[in-house]
Amino acid sequence: MIWKQRLARSLHLSRSKPESRYLQLATYCETRGVQNRTVVFRGFNDSDTQLYFVTEKNCDKVHSLKSHSQAEIAWYFAKTREQYRLRVECNLIGEDADVNDAQCRQRIWQELSVSARESFKPINDSTPANFIVSVCTITQVDYLYLGQSHERYLYQPCTSWQEQSIPV
Ligand SMILES: Cc1cc2nc3c(=O)[nH]c(=O)nc-3n(C[C@H](O)[C@H](O)[C@H](O)COP(=O)(O)O)c2cc1C
Repeated sequence: MIWKQRLARSLHLSRSKPESRYLQLATYCETRGVQNRTVVFRGFNDSDTQLYFVTEKNCDKVHSLKSHSQAEIAWYFAKTREQYRLRVECNLIGEDADVNDAQCRQRIWQELSVSARESFKPINDSTPANFIVSVCTITQVDYLYLGQSHERYLYQPCTSWQEQSIPV
């Protein structure tokens, strides 16, 4: 899958830039309308088809995603002048998760820095009740390169993730 290779390359080339792990996440629901905010990329699953971010139970994005699980991520790599727009389906893992999801939530909690954990105000070392992992399944990728040439490609599962060039 070419988009995965592109994204892996973008992350690798910007690995010294902490801001390359900041994503813009747009959500929608009837009561809150369209909302956009920054979240930190917390890694991919083993097959790179899902990405993770973490958040807190009582926030707008969680309320919106519970009623509309579709969202869009915009991810810009300034160093390589590349933008990815990822259409995603978000599954929220909280304290009521089944065994497999609970393991994933526990692992991601353990991988957080001390300062990131402190923002959840844990009472002890165990995973706090308000800690949520969003598992975002990638359902479409729109890639834009604004280097010397301008290139845009669309990747969708209905075309077996084949690269489709779009005039810029
Ligand atoms: C650089 C940066 C990184 C952030 N990372 C996260 C994050 O990983 N998870 C999160 O819930 N909020 C994060 N925030 C805060 C969100 O952008 C947002 O302000 C907050 O989560 C409330 O959003 P909501 O009310 O739309 O849910 C971050 C903000 C900034 C500026």
